[in-house]
Amino acid sequence: MKIQVIIGSIRPNRFAEKPAQWILQEVSKREGVEAELIDLKDYPLPFFAEPTPPARMNGNYPNEAVTRWSRKVAEADGYIIVSPEYNHGYSSVLKNALDHLYKEWSRKPVGFVGYGGVGGARAIEQLRLVALELEMAPIRGAVHIQADVFTAINNGKPDAYEPLKSTATRFLDQLLWWTRALKTAREQDGK
Ligand SMILES: Cc1cc2nc3c(=O)[nH]c(=O)nc-3n(C[C@H](O)[C@H](O)[C@H](O)COP(=O)(O)O)c2cc1C
Repeated sequence: MKIQVIIGSIRPNRFAEKPAQWILQEVSKREGVEAELIDLKDYPLPFFAEPTPPARMNGNYPNEAVTRWSRKVAEADGYIIVSPEYNHGYSSVLKNALDHLYKEWSRKPVGFVGYGGVGGARAIEQLRLVALELEMAPIRGAVHIQADVFTAINNGKPDAYEPLKSTATRFLDQLLWWTRALKTAREQDGK
């Protein structure tokens, strides 16, 4: 099962990279998983302005950068999106990256790791709705990093992730169950 961990912030001093590295390590420990960190900085995309909705483009994109993004996303069987919360929503770079594609996301599970005042909960709830429209399967579990843990991680405390461990275990159990189930179903469909 190929799992991509997508970093949802491209700010130079972003927090996102820290929990992304951590959840990457956690998911990599699971049997049968090949995990990869995906940095949106490495996939600079234009603001979405295509004449045709990606849902009707069947994976054929005129823009080279979008084609490259499409090929990368298409490789995965499941996704973990690490999301900031900006003004009670998620980042615009993440929305742009999601909107550019369609079939590459479709029929695959996605789980979210969020952080902020309420653990990124408001951003994650919005992301779940967007994921449904991309025909993804957003899972119920999520990892919410609240202020105290956020600060401990930022300060490089060695045991900072300890309070998140049991949630992360249940989160990954769910994500991998859905990944296995949907991968099998897609293979049966020949897709
Ligand atoms: C434009 C902007 C808006 C923000 N709005 C929120 C918010 O609504 N809720 C929240 O919990 N944190 C908010 N924050 C604080 C972020 O949680 C914090 O800056 C975090 O580090 C952002 O993620 P990043 O560093 O990975 O980009 C905001 C930060 C920025 C830059």
